[in-house]
Amino acid sequence: MPSTLFSPIRLGSIELDNRIVIAPMCQYSAVDGCATDWHLAHLGMLANSGAGLVVIEATHVERHGRITHGCMGLYSDETEAALGGVIDFCRRAGTAKLGIQLAHAGRKASSQRPWEGGGPLKPGQDPWDTIAPSALPFGPGWHTPRAMAADDFERVRDAFGAAAQRAVRIGFDAIELHMAHGYLAHSFMSPIANQRTDQYGGSIENRMRYPREIAERVRQVVPRNIALGARITGTDWIDGAWTPADAVFCAKTLKAAGLDYVDVSSGGISSEARNPTTPGYNVDIAQQVRATGIATRVVGLIVTPQQAETVVADGKADMVALARAVLDDPRWGWHAAQALGSDVKRPNQYLRAGPALWPGAAVAR
Ligand SMILES: Cc1cc2nc3c(=O)[nH]c(=O)nc-3n(C[C@H](O)[C@H](O)[C@H](O)COP(=O)(O)O)c2cc1C
Repeated sequence: MPSTLFSPIRLGSIELDNRIVIAPMCQYSAVDGCATDWHLAHLGMLANSGAGLVVIEATHVERHGRITHGCMGLYSDETEAALGGVIDFCRRAGTAKLGIQLAHAGRKASSQRPWEGGGPLKPGQDPWDTIAPSALPFGPGWHTPRAMAADDFERVRDAFGAAAQRAVRIGFDAIELHMAHGYLAHSFMSPIANQRTDQYGGSIENRMRYPREIAERVRQVVPRNIALGARITGTDWIDGAWTPADAVFCAKTLKAAGLDYVDVSSGGISSEARNPTTPGYNVDIAQQVRATGIATRVVGLIVTPQQAETVVADGKADMVALARAVLDDPRWGWHAAQALGSDVKRPNQYLRAGPALWPGAAVAR
């Protein structure tokens, strides 16, 4: 039977060659928000992984919205030029379509790189003030954010719109909004981080209001020939917090705001929360979200080709995203194609490493 994983899929008006997506992965290797040679090598590699779409790491819409000093931004002509150069290269050298994740880190901003401890920046490490729906820290010892005021709402909404315009100019095929992992948009959605008493807090409609406003603003400036999506939260993995039913509401809201797809992830709202370590731990939630009719991707411990194939062939999700498995095997898509009896596009320079090498195939010269 032909592989479902390797069948094309349409997202809005773009078509992906297959349903494998490289999940956004921060590299903490930018300089003042600007992409560097590391990104050229890393993304150049992933653009030839066999995935239909590579999503660039969380790229922040304002300087103080970055997670760490090494995080990427898209808030100035310099950051746009640096990322634009990398993306031009990926387009020339690679086979994948290219997307970008636009983000604001909210109360998880002003952090150390993971290999420097991953905690909040300490005095002497050039920390900065953070913002959030409520003045509640991410966990013990974390910065206490300032509860956002009217001008913050306007500035950050505008920053998402401006960053999206820069992403359009760079020529991305897809733009996705980070609404998961405890960063700003998710912190509005979850009652753990949002205890506002105005129109942005309380009921789920109110907690979704600001993420929806961001989505609407971005949709206004992103033409329909670019797919627009969001990474959303399936669950907070905390009793009494954000649930799969809330994720379904979120997907409906974003679909109505004109988004073409969602990616179901989970966790990250507080330092106390722990994600499960079972294979495909978000898949059952994705299936519920997919029932809303929006194209749905799922991420989280999807590791083997057969596992990925089963997720999409059984209709649990339309696409899968992989992160760590692809760092481990950057040609994951090539090897999955071989395992599932399909094939992927390869750059001309590497054509002789395709099916000709597979056991039983004739050796082409
Ligand atoms: C090095 C690294 C960096 C990550 N950076 C991001 C990011 O920028 N944005 C995001 O939404 N998730 C990020 N994640 C989470 C992944 O996209 C993914 O959701 C998570 O690793 C689970 O998928 P996996 O089991 O395939 O690794 C990162 C994960 C890793 C390992």
